[in-house]
Amino acid sequence: MKSPLFLMLFLFFFGTTLFANESYDVKSFRVITKLCGMCHGIPFHLAKEKDGDEWEEYFDDDQTLLKIHQKEPEALSNIKSTRFKYYRKNILKFFIDNSKYSGKVHGCDGNFCGAHY
Ligand code: HEC
Repeated sequence: MKSPLFLMLFLFFFGTTLFANESYDVKSFRVITKLCGMCHGIPFHLAKEKDGDEWEEYFDDDQTLLKIHQKEPEALSNIKSTRFKYYRKNILKFFIDNSKYSGKVHGCDGNFCGAHY
């Protein structure tokens, strides 16, 4: 096991059963962690890199994301996965809700604690 990552994933998956009062979409947080997190880190950080309009553009059609990740086979297969397709709308909403100018700052909870970079 790659231990720190494993521990993080463990906390992501089991933390929420202990703390049930989140102010954001935990399901999307988990899906994004799984599909994008190994390269882009904590979903809040990824969301904060773009503003809402930019996220709309990235999700305008799948080609945009596929093109960006041309050289990343793992990313391509995640973006083509049924899971991504199923949660696509919620993933976009999560990114927009937590985007650059959203003013959202998250405290500590079972999934995530504190720091924004
Ligand atoms: C296997 C690693 C990997 C995975 C998984 C991955 N990405 Fe990426 N992503 C990258 C790399 C590397 C780049 C930079 C590509 C470049 O600049 O040429 C990138 C770039 C991006 C960019 C553009 C950033 C910018 O400023 O240009 C966005 C948006 C993005 N990824 C979103 C996602 C989303 C959403 C997911 C999950 C569905 C995801 N990525 C999954 C590796 C990954």
